[in-house]
Amino acid sequence: MIRVAHLSDLHFGAHRPALVPLLLEDIARFSPDAIAISGDLTQRAREEEFREAAAFIAALSAPVVAVPGNHDIPAGAIFERMFDPRRRWREFIADTTEPVVTLPGLALIGLDTVRRAQPHLDWSAGGISTSRLARLSARIDAAAGRTIVVVAHHPLRHPATAQDRARPIGATATLSMLRDAGVAAILSGHLHRSGEPAGAPPVMISGSSLSHRVLGVPNEWGLVELGDGPPRVRHRIADGTLWRDAAVLA
Ligand SMILES: [Fe+2]
Ligand SMILES: [Fe+2]
Repeated sequence: MIRVAHLSDLHFGAHRPALVPLLLEDIARFSPDAIAISGDLTQRAREEEFREAAAFIAALSAPVVAVPGNHDIPAGAIFERMFDPRRRWREFIADTTEPVVTLPGLALIGLDTVRRAQPHLDWSAGGISTSRLARLSARIDAAAGRTIVVVAHHPLRHPATAQDRARPIGATATLSMLRDAGVAAILSGHLHRSGEPAGAPPVMISGSSLSHRVLGVPNEWGLVELGDGPPRVRHRIADGTLWRDAAVLA
């Protein structure tokens, strides 16, 4: 059994500081094999927010695949957004926005779905270009024989509660490639509400792990268990200053 801790939408800058050490402790309790952070590490892509996100990642005790979300490129600095939108990510988080962690039996592969502009009004939506799709496909081929999990901020498939939100451009072609490649799961965020819309491969969406901008849902993270059967997620939610299984109150 391989276990991946799935965090999302940390939103440093609009986060709950008191939850940070407790979240680190709660993840450590489960000794995951690897950790996925599916985007929106910051609120406004400010340097101070990236510094806090980097300190959080440094405190994690398993290999991490973190990908950016739409909040992780500057919104106000238009010149930077257009010409070097991932500069701050490279400076504070990693030299790539598409990291890969390879362990015995597991490949955790990052997919950067952030777009600096969109052909419609919702610039928070994502997209996968044909060149990114080809690169992802090559990385999956290189990991043949392992359980493959892809980490991408924008869900490629939406639950019924988010049918009004724009799906990433290229989502259908990407899903089709990932299905044909036998990918075990896609870990995503962005919607700030957990969900697992039916289909293959499973798209497992985590709510926000630390943001205070959640509407009527708790902060959460998930322990994704990958074994012989379909992947399963153990939902951990913040209850005041405690983290506990979601099922306790469900
Ligand atoms: Fe977010
Ligand atoms: Fe987002």
